[in-house]
Amino acid sequence: MLKKRAQQVLSPVLSRFHELDIQSGKGCYLYDQANIAYLDFGSGIAVTSTGHCHPKVVAAVQQQVATLIHPSIAVGNTDVVINCAEKILSLFSVGDYSVFFEQSGAGAVEAALKLAKYVTKRHHVLAFEGGFHGRSMGALSVTTSKKAYRDHVGPMLEGVSFFPFPNTYRSLNEDVTDISVAAYIDTLKHSKAIHSGLAAVIIEPILGEGGYVSAPIEFLQCVAELCKQHNVLLIVDEVQSGIGRTGTWFQFQKANIVPDIVTLAKGLGSGMPIAACVAKTEFMNLWDKGSHGGTYGANPVTCVAASATIDVIAKQLSSISDLAAYAELVLEPLRSHIYIGDIRVEGLMIGIECVKDKQTKEPYPDMVADILKKCLENHLIVLSCGIHSNVIRLAPPLIISQKELKHGLMILIEAIYDYH
Ligand SMILES: Cc1ncc(COP(=O)(O)O)c(C=O)c1O
Repeated sequence: MLKKRAQQVLSPVLSRFHELDIQSGKGCYLYDQANIAYLDFGSGIAVTSTGHCHPKVVAAVQQQVATLIHPSIAVGNTDVVINCAEKILSLFSVGDYSVFFEQSGAGAVEAALKLAKYVTKRHHVLAFEGGFHGRSMGALSVTTSKKAYRDHVGPMLEGVSFFPFPNTYRSLNEDVTDISVAAYIDTLKHSKAIHSGLAAVIIEPILGEGGYVSAPIEFLQCVAELCKQHNVLLIVDEVQSGIGRTGTWFQFQKANIVPDIVTLAKGLGSGMPIAACVAKTEFMNLWDKGSHGGTYGANPVTCVAASATIDVIAKQLSSISDLAAYAELVLEPLRSHIYIGDIRVEGLMIGIECVKDKQTKEPYPDMVADILKKCLENHLIVLSCGIHSNVIRLAPPLIISQKELKHGLMILIEAIYDYH
């Protein structure tokens, strides 16, 4: 019903996983116009970390909307904005950081790139093949997860080079034949890809759009070390992996590294559009007043949503690893399925890679499309990702119960076993 009206008024440029007629959302469920409940393992693309309309987030937003919506940070400070920045910074156990608020992941990445260039007075950036950092021109220039994003909109930003993302399941670059962690590290060291002419290296600690692939901890440590050696700023893009999704506040914390800049969005606001570029204070202080900014940054309504989100996730954080271990156990038998090439569980960021042949690893995107459809028929929302669109992507709300998780996984597993 809504699909037809949408076609008449909305740009068709947006790609869709599904086209439900959505009425409302509560907890782990979305409800359609016929009030049918769908268990949501997509969370609005890893956004509604506290579930749909969490009562604490709703209450905070409702109260703030009735008090003050937008004074503009250029006019004055509000307690709720400062409180939100303080809360975000309290999640960083090491280092002295400051926050620049934005509305989208791409906005946070733009800010990070601009800051790195501004303070280093250099303009070269190293990014990773298969990475996704957003669709604005700067963020897009460091994004290669899908060709379609970059078609017909060049030229891209000058001075961007790429290094293969350390995918230990499949090579994403025909020149890379050894996909061991040691080989990726060795090549990185010998390639001199990280050199003192760079302003920054930007990396997702887990490829999001690119297929839910974790960078090995030793690789992240090597990148951090080389950045330090060459005085290059390290930007860790935690837009998808941050704010508890992987069982720690940030994925980089598992590697014990101290990034210069961290970008956040998605799960930060439970669906309210808030993002942050968090950078070491020594660099933020070199960013001269007025050289960057924006109308909507540091909005009180989105900030209270983020503060409430952090409070809710703080209570949940310790159980995320248990939920992940449970998911891994339940999914384990799928490893022997003829079309399942790899299963990657990093907290509640779960990727199941489908291949036509386990030996050749030929991607099987049609299967993934069919599984998404089949799950939806059984009232489970799952998404896809991967540079070949052949990865089933699960990003359930972090407040999910084990019972709900089991229910969804069973629907998915049945759909996969039914697939011929
Ligand atoms: C790692 C990462 N960075 C940046 C972005 C861009 O965020 P947004 O779509 O909010 O601009 C995304 C979005 O998927 C992402 O996953």
